[in-house]
Amino acid sequence: MKTILVTGSNGLLGQKISAVHALKPKSRLVATSRGPDRFKAGNTYIYEELDLLDPQRVETVLGLYRPDVVIHTAAVTNADTCAEQPELCDRMNIEAVAQLVQLCARKGIHLVYLSTDFVFDGQSGPYRESDQPNPLSHYGGSKLAAEKLVSAMQGPWTVVRTVLVYGVLRDMSRSNLVLWAKESLEAGRNIRVVNDQWRTPTLAEDLAAACLEIAERGLQGIYHISGEEFISIAQMVRRVAQFWSLDEGLITEVPSSVFVQPAKRPMRTGFIVDKAAADFGYRPHRLEEGLAVVARQLSEMGIPNLSA
Ligand SMILES: NC(=O)c1ccc[n+]([C@@H]2O[C@H](COP(=O)([O-])OP(=O)(O)OC[C@H]3O[C@@H](n4cnc5c(N)ncnc54)[C@H](OP(=O)(O)O)[C@@H]3O)[C@@H](O)[C@H]2O)c1
Repeated sequence: MKTILVTGSNGLLGQKISAVHALKPKSRLVATSRGPDRFKAGNTYIYEELDLLDPQRVETVLGLYRPDVVIHTAAVTNADTCAEQPELCDRMNIEAVAQLVQLCARKGIHLVYLSTDFVFDGQSGPYRESDQPNPLSHYGGSKLAAEKLVSAMQGPWTVVRTVLVYGVLRDMSRSNLVLWAKESLEAGRNIRVVNDQWRTPTLAEDLAAACLEIAERGLQGIYHISGEEFISIAQMVRRVAQFWSLDEGLITEVPSSVFVQPAKRPMRTGFIVDKAAADFGYRPHRLEEGLAVVARQLSEMGIPNLSA
């Protein structure tokens, strides 16, 4: 049985990796994150506090558990934070990855690194793994710099890129487009959403299952993991409204130029996931199927689906 160590286990993807793993444990899972465990879901994984900005602690924890695979999800994930705090972004998104690359190479550990559609410029999405990155933002640049470190590693490596992930965190510590749109429309707030940015939105459970599959099978190289429906942000929000029978009249579609944001967003990203489908049978949920997963989890947590 392999030992898989996950970083950032308190985050959206990190929590879902623990949740999906618990359904059919095929490996020993060591979940690590900053501060205490916020997922707190039973006894199917070991939890260890790990701040990746503490290099000594990283070395100690890897030495303690001797994992076969590290799935590195932790990052400064907000593009605007990276634009405003580039030094923090680089320490976490590049320097911490450089240390993991070095330790994993030395110990023969398979490193699975999570990256982003923001490595592309959005001129010609949806993208395949073989397409040429050209980031527009500091965040995208930091993730691409880390990809280059990972792909030059002397040892087994995988880069998993993903797009606009949605889902429910057990502690509701973070929001995402689906939760924000649902909550805003339920509260009767008018919202403005961009209709010129296109994505292939990803159910967090699909991404988590793909990461575990890659780790357990030892698959290497670059994988694009996302949903398959190429839609604009505005279309996505409209489908959220329709799913929960909320008032679409509250939605105003606008071009990206209306918003002044610190980080530039790529217009048309999104992924073609044929490679993952061919290599390990990856088949993502359609959006409405994913929203049904979200609705079920919210009601299990006692959060009402007001109009459903
Ligand atoms: N979500 C998306 O739409 C999306 C899209 C494309 C790519 N990705 C990539 O997918 C990966 C997972 O994203 P996500 O949505 O799960 O992100 P997330 O919810 O923001 O989770 C990131 C996690 O990293 C942790 N972290 C930050 N600094 C840390 C440090 N110094 N030491 C240890 N942990 C630290 C955070 O801890 P705290 O909880 O304590 O803050 C958080 O739990 C990231 O690499 C991201 O770049 C995500």
